[in-house]
Amino acid sequence: MSTQIRITRVTTATVREMKRKGERVSMLTAYDYPTAAAMDEAGIDIILVGDSLGMVVLGYDSTLPVTMEDMIHHTKAVSRAAKRAMVIGDMPFMSYQASVEEAVRNAGRFMQEAGAHGVKLEGGREVADVTRRIVQAGIPVMAHIGLTPQSVHQLGGYRVQGKDHPSATRLLDDAKILEEAGAFSVVLECVPAALAEKITASLSISTIGIGGGIHCDGQVLVVHDMLGLFERFTPKFVKKYASLNVQIKEAVAQYVDEVKKGAFPGPEHSF
Ligand code: KIV
Repeated sequence: MSTQIRITRVTTATVREMKRKGERVSMLTAYDYPTAAAMDEAGIDIILVGDSLGMVVLGYDSTLPVTMEDMIHHTKAVSRAAKRAMVIGDMPFMSYQASVEEAVRNAGRFMQEAGAHGVKLEGGREVADVTRRIVQAGIPVMAHIGLTPQSVHQLGGYRVQGKDHPSATRLLDDAKILEEAGAFSVVLECVPAALAEKITASLSISTIGIGGGIHCDGQVLVVHDMLGLFERFTPKFVKKYASLNVQIKEAVAQYVDEVKKGAFPGPEHSF
């Protein structure tokens, strides 16, 4: 008799239930099949195929050059791997700003072509209509406020947002507007911990922090940051759980040495 293990997919209902029960949501980015498969097996709740792939995978200086084709390609790979985790596709710059129709169509591509279970888009009240229409199309939306990297030039750099009273009030109002527009969760990036706590307490949807302190309902990090694979810079909010860059360099140096010396391949690797 074969025993079949049934895996229950994390959904928007699961995320809502977790907020109700006070269970924290774990989220990481991934951009490829093996990384997503390992994360899924390790029990991650949500995998975000972030447009951060522009910086940590494709080597651009910002997320702005990332295209829908890049995102669809990587989201497909992640969706094939994720058996339990909810997969969120990150809408890249200019895929949702020009018109609501284009935004709904592009969000639909993440679901139809790439196998995602929802999309994320950056912005406050200015994306409320787009959010509402995408949700009306049956597509779960994760909002993203605070430091929104696609607006880096308008924000004047990658810096903490909501530090003074007017900007903090605006972020709180934005979060409420996006909840009302139908977002099922909201990423709070680089906002003071006290503000993130206040926003979290004011919403019935989950907040996912990245540089938002401990009081958010969940946490997200860029996987290349937390595994020590991206060494160009490390934001203050990152904790490194591994140093894979060092391990890769050591392994490659050993391989080069063994190939040069004729120590690899050995008889056990030969036919
Ligand atoms: O693109 C990304 O990885 C993100 C996370 C940092 C939230 O938006």
